[in-house]
Amino acid sequence: MLRKMELLNFTDLYRFGNPFKTGATLINFDDKFHENSKTPDFFEVSSADKKIILKYNLDEKDAVYGLGQSLGGINKRGKKYRLYATDDPLHTPEKESLYGSHPFLIIKGKNTFGFFIDFPGEIVLDVGFTQTNLFTVEVSRDDFDLYVFNNADVFLIIKEFLTLTGTPYVPPKWAFGFGQSRWSYPDEKTVTDIADNFRKNKIPCDMIFLDIDYMDNYKVFTVDKKKFPNFKKFVSKMKDKGFRLLPIIDPGVKIEKGYDVYEEGLKNNYFCKDEKGNNFTAAVWPGLTHFPDFTNKTTRRWWGGLYKRLTDEGIEGFWNDMNEPALFYTKEGLDDLKKTNEEVLSKEDPGFDFFKIKDKANGLSNKASDYKRMIHITDKNEKYTNEDIHNLYGYHMTKATSDAFSEFKKNQRYFLLSRSSYVGLHRFAAIWMGDNQSWWEHMLVHIKMLISLNMCGFFYTGADVGGFGCNASPELAIRWQQLGAFTPLYRNHAAIGTRNQEPWAFDEKTMDITRDIINFRYAMSPYIYSEFMKATIELKPFIKPIFFIYEDDISKNIEDQFFFGDSIMVCPIYTPNQRGRFVYLPESKWLMWNLKKYDQTNLKIYQSGSYFIEAGIDEIPIFIKENSLTILTEPQNYTNEKPLLKLKVIGFVTDKASFTYFEDDGVSYDYKNGNYASLKIFVEKKETDYEIFFDVVESKDNKILIEEIDFEIYDEKNQIFIKKIGKNNFYKFSN
Ligand code: GLC
Repeated sequence: MLRKMELLNFTDLYRFGNPFKTGATLINFDDKFHENSKTPDFFEVSSADKKIILKYNLDEKDAVYGLGQSLGGINKRGKKYRLYATDDPLHTPEKESLYGSHPFLIIKGKNTFGFFIDFPGEIVLDVGFTQTNLFTVEVSRDDFDLYVFNNADVFLIIKEFLTLTGTPYVPPKWAFGFGQSRWSYPDEKTVTDIADNFRKNKIPCDMIFLDIDYMDNYKVFTVDKKKFPNFKKFVSKMKDKGFRLLPIIDPGVKIEKGYDVYEEGLKNNYFCKDEKGNNFTAAVWPGLTHFPDFTNKTTRRWWGGLYKRLTDEGIEGFWNDMNEPALFYTKEGLDDLKKTNEEVLSKEDPGFDFFKIKDKANGLSNKASDYKRMIHITDKNEKYTNEDIHNLYGYHMTKATSDAFSEFKKNQRYFLLSRSSYVGLHRFAAIWMGDNQSWWEHMLVHIKMLISLNMCGFFYTGADVGGFGCNASPELAIRWQQLGAFTPLYRNHAAIGTRNQEPWAFDEKTMDITRDIINFRYAMSPYIYSEFMKATIELKPFIKPIFFIYEDDISKNIEDQFFFGDSIMVCPIYTPNQRGRFVYLPESKWLMWNLKKYDQTNLKIYQSGSYFIEAGIDEIPIFIKENSLTILTEPQNYTNEKPLLKLKVIGFVTDKASFTYFEDDGVSYDYKNGNYASLKIFVEKKETDYEIFFDVVESKDNKILIEEIDFEIYDEKNQIFIKKIGKNNFYKFSN
């Protein structure tokens, strides 16, 4: 039965059947339905074997955006997508599934509207793949909520979606610094060397990630005592040097007698069951494991509490991995493999039977039949197979972590990444883009996914810079660092067995260029933090495609340039051996900065149009929008090493522009209650000069500490206006 209600400003909710309560939305609309209301606006609805199919006829010029973590273009047309979380490390173009499910889309064109399908099982979307102008959405069960956002303004659609599903996650301020990772830095000595290398080479860094080898035999919530004899002391020593250590946590609990996490889980019935009522068993890194049933609140509480073992040692954040959940194999699968192998290999010449065994071992991982056998039992004693609610496993695992943090780290922001996700996870954690490769093609995937994820509320996100699998060349490593510097989560990560990717791992020149890039990132920190906080307050993506801002026909086609905050358009170079690239500059005039070093401004005005912009290996073209300002400061070794006292404003002002600098403690949620300071900087062009004035707002605990601001303002003739303003001066202008 289809039921409808109207809610928020322009949203309709259509309820099919009896949906599972995913927790994606914040508001409970249960008792406000009009029974048997009309069919949803825009869609034709049909059903087949308990599946519901929504159809929409695409106009030639319609574009389809959204879907968060997915391959394909930013415009999703011409491809099929299957929302079914999977651990597939080879993101080749034809793949339909990645690690998460974000069924929020916007159609822009003849009709402009958005929709969100709140359903935790499999959804297949064919966006004009089978038939050019036909968009079909196949929901695998007839129990789901369909929200339709009927508005012509894409930013308002996103705002309404985020009003419904919640404000994006805000990490601590240090999470906007640089992070170094590798599978693995397994012991104290290696981690110390990495940290010392950063400081010795004068390259800023805030975070070092601990991959699976820090554990004792991959047993979650343990630390190998031989590798880290005094973990607490070590964590604290690293923090004194300005590094946060961020350990990985996997959901699979090793089956081992005497291992307390296993024993507790067993005793209290915390694990998922199989079809016979035994604990479901499959292998991940530790070999055979059981999987906590995170759909159950009691299990979540237990699991969340386990993180305290590490937070008590001084840890302030984690990355939850393998939570699709990834299953390497089951005993049943291995038996079957053995049987087939014996059958085939007993023949002298297996002939075509060889193909029966060729991919069989690979096929044991993440098998549909295993997810069907994995049983969840909710708080209300309702049974679901994992297949039914598959896309919620990582979401619930990470919810357990975040709920626990809000209990034992009251009013303290934490760092939390999850690999698998569902809509709603964006409120309490971030995601990264999973196991990409050191391929140039994956830099472009990184750009596109960054934009699509921001549309779906995942503002703080990024990919493994330099690429996870395969070996990176020095040139790729540099170009990817240049892109990474313009992504909120800026983390270099690489797989075991691949070439090292730390800034010093290549040659002297590569290290020098990388140092300049990371220094620039730290110089931009007040801009990034201020714009990010503004984005979460306004519910407007931090990263934006240019066609959300400019409506012209060319902009619609530009998927490799993006807005980083509101003032800067970034044009990364993502192809080998290129010493420049074509850029498109819409509508207004632009101030081009071929960025090399944060303190070398070499800016030039461009009129709107298409250009080939030259950019050496150490340069990345960015453009400051007409009538906007950016702010920089001196880079530091790590975030908050020293108080930030000086700003430099670089702007392109032909009429007037303003920028709001945001300052708070960077670690608590006090800003939500207005406990932050802001300094609004105004620059207005007068006849031959500029007028600068300020608006200072301070709170109980947060004052503006800035003592001096340098201005470098460009006009349309590329003339530069430079002015230094001291604390007294800008206070004089304040309200
Ligand atoms: C998974 C993760 C990757 C991690 C590896 C080992 O492949 O995606 O980031 O390094 O597992 O833990």
